[in-house]
Amino acid sequence: MNWFQREKDLIFQTYRRQPLVLVKGRGSWVWDEKGARYLDFFSGLAVNNLGHCHPAVVRAAAAQSRVLGHASNVYYTVPQIRLAGELVARSFPGRVFFSNSGAEAVECALKIARRWGASTGGRTDVISFQNSFHGRTLAALTLTGQEKYRKGFDPLVPGIRYAAFNDLESVRRAATKKTGAVFVEPIQGEGGVVPADGDFLAGLRVLCDRNRWLLVFDEVQCGLGRTGRLFAFQSYGVRPDVLVLAKALGGGLPMGATVAARAAAALLGAGDHASTFGGNPVVCSAALAVLKVMDPKFLKSVARKGAILREGLEKLRDAFPGRILSVRGAGLMLGLQLSGPGGALVDALREEGLLANCTQDTVLRLLPPLTVSEAEIRAALRTLGKVFAICWNNRLQTIPC
Ligand SMILES: Cc1ncc(COP(=O)(O)O)c(C=O)c1O
Repeated sequence: MNWFQREKDLIFQTYRRQPLVLVKGRGSWVWDEKGARYLDFFSGLAVNNLGHCHPAVVRAAAAQSRVLGHASNVYYTVPQIRLAGELVARSFPGRVFFSNSGAEAVECALKIARRWGASTGGRTDVISFQNSFHGRTLAALTLTGQEKYRKGFDPLVPGIRYAAFNDLESVRRAATKKTGAVFVEPIQGEGGVVPADGDFLAGLRVLCDRNRWLLVFDEVQCGLGRTGRLFAFQSYGVRPDVLVLAKALGGGLPMGATVAARAAAALLGAGDHASTFGGNPVVCSAALAVLKVMDPKFLKSVARKGAILREGLEKLRDAFPGRILSVRGAGLMLGLQLSGPGGALVDALREEGLLANCTQDTVLRLLPPLTVSEAEIRAALRTLGKVFAICWNNRLQTIPC
């Protein structure tokens, strides 16, 4: 079967896919339909934080599907309440709304922001950041501070202004009498793996408190252990009013969650928001298993392995001056700022058995599973070194880099 052709015929052509049909995954590895094996430093775009088919997650989801697969939110279900308890206990006091994706979790936060603004004298406008990414539904897209994604979808959602990331002065300039909330990623993922400065997030907290703006952190990509803390905000010591989660939460099953401090959560009452599948018992059971694995010892190991990967990448930066400009990120969310487009490198890495991707065209992004072993990190570093040498030292003319 020519799956590439079938896909072209049958699926909206909205994805620029890499030419691989994946059929199996285990731990840090995936296999294609021809049986070739790849070391996965992409992790389904920061979803497979526990690697592929983690036994605890598979067990929890399978066990729950045998007992009660779906009930709707018309009734109470135990895994959902337990999961909310776990999230609140490990983030900050508040309540949780469950949905199915990052964009939906962002939408919920935006609805809270609108209500927050309405309840504080019509201050319903929101500030988000240039180069941010918050998802593809119309409201999440409007929050996304990148013109290339928004182009051609006007009219977008009103009342959203963009400030420069890591620039408090720009936030002050973007603010108006109608501003009521700020949405920010502690580490911009799609924006090129750019961490917020500590002073910037702390300054945002002060600005929000002074002006009674709601501070919303989108940790869809950088949350859930990626940085070596369960939530990225914990390494900054700056707590948001609303925390947006998705991706890795369901252990590979679709899930979004919006955690809000009690006063903010109370703004959405019965009938104000809903999701048929949100907080489904199977996904919640999988998520409970994910959080159980992510205990303090596990998170420490992420920080340790992140340091090993970063050190190796910094050596590569030094070995290829002028090609790798910098190494950025935190924990196991790292990016190499290249001096030019990295698409051909991604292809060459794949041909050498390593999966990664490029964001912002020139940032090679590495998102290994948090369960990756030190030996796998060293293997990935060897492959990176080999491919950089082939491409940039032009040792092998066959790879078009
Ligand atoms: C920071 C951030 N927010 C929101 C989203 C949207 O998530 P989803 O694709 O699950 O809607 C993404 C997706 O990459 C993201 O990185």
